[in-house]
Amino acid sequence: LKLLLVEDDIDIREILKSMLEDIGSFDVYCAVNAPEALALLEKEKDWSCVISDFRFEGGGAPVVYKRIIELNYKIPFGLISTYGPESNEVFKNFKKDHPLNFHLPKPFTFTDLKANVEKFINPVASSKPETHVRLSPQLLLRSKPPFAIYIALSDSKFVSILKANEFDAQTIQNYQNKGVQSFYLLNEDFDRWLKQQFLENIQKFESLSDETFFFDAVEQIQVAMVHFGVTPETITMAHHLVEESLKRFDNYSKLNDLIQKLQISSSYVQQHGFLCSYLSVAMARDWDDRFTDEELKRLVMASLFKDIAFVDDPALAAIYRLSDPAFANLTSADKHRVQIHMQDAAHLLESIPEFDAMTKELVLAHHECADGSGFPRGENIITLSDLTILFMLANRFAHDLIIYQGKMNEVTSVVQNYVLDYDGTKYHDVYLRFTKTFHQLKGLV
Ligand SMILES: [Fe+2]
Repeated sequence: LKLLLVEDDIDIREILKSMLEDIGSFDVYCAVNAPEALALLEKEKDWSCVISDFRFEGGGAPVVYKRIIELNYKIPFGLISTYGPESNEVFKNFKKDHPLNFHLPKPFTFTDLKANVEKFINPVASSKPETHVRLSPQLLLRSKPPFAIYIALSDSKFVSILKANEFDAQTIQNYQNKGVQSFYLLNEDFDRWLKQQFLENIQKFESLSDETFFFDAVEQIQVAMVHFGVTPETITMAHHLVEESLKRFDNYSKLNDLIQKLQISSSYVQQHGFLCSYLSVAMARDWDDRFTDEELKRLVMASLFKDIAFVDDPALAAIYRLSDPAFANLTSADKHRVQIHMQDAAHLLESIPEFDAMTKELVLAHHECADGSGFPRGENIITLSDLTILFMLANRFAHDLIIYQGKMNEVTSVVQNYVLDYDGTKYHDVYLRFTKTFHQLKGLV
C-alpha cells in the first residue's frame, strides 16, 4: 500500500510516518511542501491514500487536494490539522468526494488515526488472500487447538507465540493481560482443525438418540450444517465470511457498542444472525455460479445486522410474523418498532460504505414471505431478485430452527409447509435449491 504523507514539521512527520507504518504495511512517501507533493502524486501511481497537514509551503492542503480531484484519483484524503475542511472552498464536497475522507484535529491519538486509516486498509487487505484466521481468546482457551498460535503485529505481520502441540493457557493469558485480544491460526491449520472438530462433534451427536441441535455457539451451528448436508468447504467459507464481516464492522465506532453486544450475548438476535449467515451462504454457494463472492458477503452482512435495532430486545426480534400471538400482546410503541425495525437497521448502517443498495434490499425484505403475508411490504414477490428470495427463505428456516429449539422431528414438519408457499414459478426454483442444499434434512419433498 502506497501512502503519501505531506507535513512540513520534521518531528511530526517522523512520528506520523512510524504510526502509519505500524497501522498497516504502508510504503510511506513523504513530502514537505506542495510542489514536492504534486510531483510525487504525478510521478508515482497506485496511491492508496494521502494524509496531509493543512498549512505548508506552496498553498497547503487545498492545492494538493485540488490536484487529486483533477487527476481523478479515487483515494481517501486525511486532513490532520487544527483547520477543518470547512476552511477552504476546495473541500466543499469533502465527504462526498470520497466516503472515507477524514479530518483529524490536532492533537490526535494513535487510536484516532488508526480508526480512520483502518477503514480504508481493511477492504484492500481482505481482497488479498488471508494467511491467518483470527480466534477469540475464549474460543482458544476452550478448544486448545494443537497448532502454532500467532499474534498479529500488523495486518500482514504475524509472530508465533506457541508451537504446535504445545498449547499453554498461561501464555495466552499473559498476552491477554498485555492487551492482546486476537490470536491467530494459519489458514490451513484452521481449516484442518475445523474439519477435525466436525468429525469429533458429529461422533458425539451420533450417540444421542433423538436429533436435537442447539444454536448457542458457532461450533454447534456448524455441526448442524453437516447434518443438513452442507459440505465442510462451504461451512468453512461461511465461517470466514462471518469473521471477516464482524472484523470489518468493528472499525465503525458508532456501531461498536451494538456490535459488541451482538457478539457477546447468545440471544435470538445473535443466534439468528449466525444461523442465517450459514444457511444463506450454503444455499447461494450451491447454486452453481449464480452468485458472486460479493453477493455472499452481502448475505452475511445482512444476516448479522438485520436485527441490530433489537440487540437489547431479543424478544421483539423473535417475532417473525405480524400474525404471531406475541405481536398482538405488544404495546403500540413496540408494535411500531417491530414493524419498522428493518428500516431502523438500514438507517443505523447507512453511513457504512459496504452497506450498499443490495445489502439494504436484503435487510428490508427479511420478514417478507413468498405468499405475500410478510411485512413491511407484503408486496408481490415477483419483483424481488433470486438472492432476496433465497435470503427470505434462509431467514424463515433459521427462525423455525430456533423456535423449535432444533428438535428435528418438529422442524421437519414445519419445513414441509415451505413448499406450499414456494409453489410459484420463481419461488419454486429457490425452494428446489433449498431441498438440494439441505438434502440430509428428513422429510423434504
Ligand atoms: Fe427481523
